[in-house]
Amino acid sequence: MSAVCVVGVQWGDEGKGKVIDVLAKGVDFVVRYQGGNNAGHTVVVGGETFVLHLVPSGVLRPGTVNVIGNGVVVDPVQLFREIDGLERRGVRVAECLRVSARAHLILPYHRTLDAGAERWKGAGRIGTTGRGIGPAYADKAARTGLRVADLLDRERFATRLRAALAEKNEVLAKVYGEPPLSFESTFETYAALAERMVPFVCDAGDLLRRAHREGRKILFEGAQGTMLDLDAGTYPYVTSSSTGCWGVAGGTGFPPRRIDEVVGIAKAYCTRVGEGPFPSELPGDLGDLLRERGKEYGATTGRPRRCGWFDLLAARYAIELNGVDRLAVTNVDVLSGFDPIRVAVGYRCGGRVLESFPADRADLDGCAPVFRDFRGFREEITAVTAFDRLPQEARTYVEFLEGALGVPIPVVSVGPGREQVIRRDPGKGAR
Ligand code: IMP
Repeated sequence: MSAVCVVGVQWGDEGKGKVIDVLAKGVDFVVRYQGGNNAGHTVVVGGETFVLHLVPSGVLRPGTVNVIGNGVVVDPVQLFREIDGLERRGVRVAECLRVSARAHLILPYHRTLDAGAERWKGAGRIGTTGRGIGPAYADKAARTGLRVADLLDRERFATRLRAALAEKNEVLAKVYGEPPLSFESTFETYAALAERMVPFVCDAGDLLRRAHREGRKILFEGAQGTMLDLDAGTYPYVTSSSTGCWGVAGGTGFPPRRIDEVVGIAKAYCTRVGEGPFPSELPGDLGDLLRERGKEYGATTGRPRRCGWFDLLAARYAIELNGVDRLAVTNVDVLSGFDPIRVAVGYRCGGRVLESFPADRADLDGCAPVFRDFRGFREEITAVTAFDRLPQEARTYVEFLEGALGVPIPVVSVGPGREQVIRRDPGKGAR
């Protein structure tokens, strides 16, 4: 397979960073196509934990070229902070990173506007990561955004920044009661970063199309999850980008028909950060236990994640939308000690039971999940390397998911480390 896309099929934090790191072995390019430093991809290598926000996960595989595509919103301050942090830990980033000239910038006013918009929304807030993601994408759509290419041209950057600040400072003051941003100090900060940016900047689409023609292997790394996609997710409780595999074409300049395979990632249970519908949420002690066992705290913001049981309807919907060819199920080890293990197989709404994910989140109001129960297991399974060495209950659970989702599950992850991966022959039930 020469072009593979990896996507989350839940609400993000499915363990994509780890699986991408495993899949990136032997891959030439790892490419981010959307999102920004709202993402937090955790990769554990030799017992050392790396949390990547903007830099693609292939950076931990020497020899891989890591590309930030035009669909990503780039906060230059955060990008260089991340690069410096990685370099300090011995990870060579400078030679292997490319940034699209077309990628939009997150500027300081985007972060202020993000926080201000959340305050205005009050109880209806989204629970964003506060990184300026939504306002940066809004400017992109409104055609008032500044791009990486603008940053490299001092005069153009000055003109566009001055024009943007003239409007944003009014909004900051009059709508949000925030002090204005000084043109001079903002310009100086970013002009200094522009010099550091120069060696990374490229026409990412051209680079990737050429690489593909030359037979190089490309892995597209989705951030967040399909249920947070701007169109497909639980709007408005979503992020502002196309998190599904459909984001690849627009977000990189790579032709959609050249994607050979879509790999989905699902956690063995569900989590969600921020507000919004979460039908299989598990409040109370059991939810707390799942959070503690799974260390379910946001890799970017540190916020406790809401935890719940696997949601078959949401995962099936996301798998269908993405045309997922095969699925990796992560964090199966975290379920050890839970008995029963439950799976939401429907939502009971009034007198009827929904068996597919509704288009309007309002249809979920007042719905209660219909669970199917599975026997739990007590054994620690983090050192297991073969599927037939897993407890029967864990195997039954994975086999059930495979049959019910209709997609092969050749990869089961039982811990954060690179080596904690079980490869198996998918069952006959999967297509
Ligand atoms: P934003 O992307 O910061 O605008 O946040 C919008 C929603 O997406 C919020 O509910 C966030 O918690 C959620 N979100 C954004 N990035 C991630 C992620 O990487 N993992 C999980 N949730 C995320």
